[in-house]
Amino acid sequence: MQVLWSAELIQKYSVNGPRYTSYPTALSLQPDFPASAVRAALAGSADELCLYLHIPFCQQLCYYCGCNKIVTRHSEKADLYLQSLATEMALYQPLIADKTIAQLHLGGGTPTFLTQEQLSKLMQLLRQHFVFKADPELSIEIDPRSCSLEKLAHLRQLGFSRVSFGVQDFDEQVQITINRVQSEDLVRALVTEAKRLGFSSINLDLVYGLPYQKPESFLLTLQSVLLLDPDRVSLFSYAHLPTRFAAQRKIPTQSLPQAEDKLALLQLAIKHFSEAGYQCIGMDHFAKTTDSLAIAQQQGKLQRNFQGYTTAGQDALIGLGVSSISQVNGVIWQNQKELQDYQQLLAGGQLPLERGFSLSQDDKIRAALISQLMCHFELDVPAFCHRFAIEDFWSYFADALPKLDPLIGDGLVLCSDHHIQVTPLGRLLVRLVCASFDRYLQSNSNQSYSKVV
Ligand SMILES: C[S@@+](CC[C@H](N)C(=O)[O-])C[C@H]1O[C@@H](n2cnc3c(N)ncnc32)[C@H](O)[C@@H]1O
Ligand code: SF4
Repeated sequence: MQVLWSAELIQKYSVNGPRYTSYPTALSLQPDFPASAVRAALAGSADELCLYLHIPFCQQLCYYCGCNKIVTRHSEKADLYLQSLATEMALYQPLIADKTIAQLHLGGGTPTFLTQEQLSKLMQLLRQHFVFKADPELSIEIDPRSCSLEKLAHLRQLGFSRVSFGVQDFDEQVQITINRVQSEDLVRALVTEAKRLGFSSINLDLVYGLPYQKPESFLLTLQSVLLLDPDRVSLFSYAHLPTRFAAQRKIPTQSLPQAEDKLALLQLAIKHFSEAGYQCIGMDHFAKTTDSLAIAQQQGKLQRNFQGYTTAGQDALIGLGVSSISQVNGVIWQNQKELQDYQQLLAGGQLPLERGFSLSQDDKIRAALISQLMCHFELDVPAFCHRFAIEDFWSYFADALPKLDPLIGDGLVLCSDHHIQVTPLGRLLVRLVCASFDRYLQSNSNQSYSKVV
């Protein structure tokens, strides 16, 4: 589907809002969430589950980073962490003994902070505790600076078939300012080797809105990225939240592109990836039309979970490790965000929960609607009503109408008794359309979210 561009409308609706990797969003999770709710959710879950495993360590601090990470040079810290993960796996093992794992994603922080021995140990622990489907999909996030060609080959041997490399921007001034200097040669060598080793999908992460990014230099980054011929590209809008992430205060405010210039960077990227034949999956993802993510969207089967767009695991994802979020069978829970608290609860034989939330029937209805719009930009109203036994769609969602009205007026979305359609003009603002159906948005401060574009 086409994306049309209106700088005027994007500026007009330049507000903060959720990315809807879940509904309700993580801000609605409540403390003192009982482990019994997690057990009950798992008992009634789908037969196939996905696993996300968080490795929080990084060797060096990137100033722009908004991830949950621990910067250290001591690789032995990861040995202790693996022990905690083993304890956590043992707690989950009896709860999902009759389920199979279809996908595993290692994220971070930096999973390739782990040595080859530690990566082998981790995979051994996982296979020891859980039943994997034959030929499961194993994916991993890689910081190019922490992955030798040998480690990459090791990952392939361990069964990983999908890799995601953090690139962000190739420009030197940008890299110096964000404290992440990595050469284009390094990334090219890894991507070339990943292809030779037979990895079936290669993703590159880019960020727009970084300090000193300008259309002229970003164009060079885009051209270099296209020459690397990745299967997917994630193009994140730089979330600048210096009150939350102290290191971002090291980035001079005057070096950040103004809203208009930031939009020009996005526009440039959309133009180049579309012209190169990539399918624009959502606001921030591009995939070759033959890639499984693009095919899932073409077939109306695309899903969304805490990792963003996905082919599986919506409402069937267990997150292991510090700060990880799970969502299974209408229940969301998050692990302790501080390593010490996470390890302490595990040492006491408890699931390391920090907070959680059980979705009501109304939450499930809104979650399904929001996911459908985020993934497919349209909704078949009668089919949706039939699925959830809703008599009159617009009476049920009467609270959304006043919020939708201006968006309808500006041609961002079309609404009728039969259909909701996010227009090509509205695609970049789909988060706002979804926000109209969000019952919790008023109570959760907007300041906690990043800009919708
Ligand atoms: C966990 S990192 C990827 C793996 C590895 N740590 C690395 O940096 O290469 C996830 C991605 O999130 C994105 N990211 C991090 N901080 C961000 C921020 N403040 N705003 C937007 N994207 C951000 C970056 O593109 C980064 O590659
Ligand atoms: S961007 Fe990646 S490598 Fe950099 S600090 Fe964040 S998680 Fe670590």
